[in-house]
This record gives sequence, C-alpha cells and structure tokens, in this order.
Amino acid sequence: MSNENLLKLAREALQLSYSPYSQFRVGAALLTSSGKVFTGCNIENSSFSLTICAERTALFKAVSEGENSFSKILIVSDADDFISPCGACRQVLSDLAGDIEIILTNSRGEMQYKKISDLLPFAFGRADLITKRK
Ligand code: THU
Repeated sequence: MSNENLLKLAREALQLSYSPYSQFRVGAALLTSSGKVFTGCNIENSSFSLTICAERTALFKAVSEGENSFSKILIVSDADDFISPCGACRQVLSDLAGDIEIILTNSRGEMQYKKISDLLPFAFGRADLITKRK
C-alpha cells in the first residue's frame, strides 16, 4: 500500500469526522504488518474530554478486530501545516503499535516521516510496569 493510497483513505475518513465543537477535522489511515488498512476520524462529544482522536479511533478499530502488528499510520487534517498526533495518541500508539512510522501530512499532500520514538522519547510502556514495580 503506497503512502498516496493511505492519504486517499485518510482523507475519506476525514470526511466522516464528527467535530462540531472544534470544527477541526482529522483523518487517519493505519497500515497493519499484513497489509490491511484501518481508518479513523475524530469523534467529539458535548462532554469535551470524551472526544477521541482520529489516530486512536483507527488503532482501537484495528485492535478490536484482532490486529496487533502495525507498520505505519498517516494523519491528515484540513490545515495547511503538518498535523502531528497529540500526546495521548503518542502514548497509545507507542503502547499498542510500538515504534511505527508516523506520516504527517499537510493540505498540499506533502509528507513528513517520523517514528513514534522521535515524537515520544523515553516513553513509559508495558515493560516498565514489571521492571520498575517495587
Ligand atoms: N485531534 C485528532 O483527532 N488528532 C490529532 O492528532 C490532534 C487532535 C482532534 C481532537 C479534536 O476533535 C480536534 O482534533 C481538536 O483538538
């Protein structure tokens, strides 16, 4: 699956964004190691903190369908500047998807390539619960 195809799928997901409060639409396309794609959009809530981001929607959809190995995730918004995942999504991606590639895009379709370890260095993870427990 090419990054251009992932961008197309993420843009389709963005169209489904439910974001009446922020008016900020986000879409994501997550590629599994076996080549399947799971898409997601942000879904807001009148109780604002219950909002879920596009990245976590895509990842939770995938995990809930038995996926546990991932290759990359592409993120898109309507903004002219590159869209980057929030801190909560970085933590969840790091925990469930490991050091996957994160493709940031802008409204012109340009791409920037990061790893989760670039965006969330010195991450807390599952192993810490065992090695650092007293
Ligand atoms: N949002 C995402 O879906 N992904 C991000 O990486 C950043 C923020 C959403 C959450 C909320 O619905 C809106 O964008 C404004 O923060």
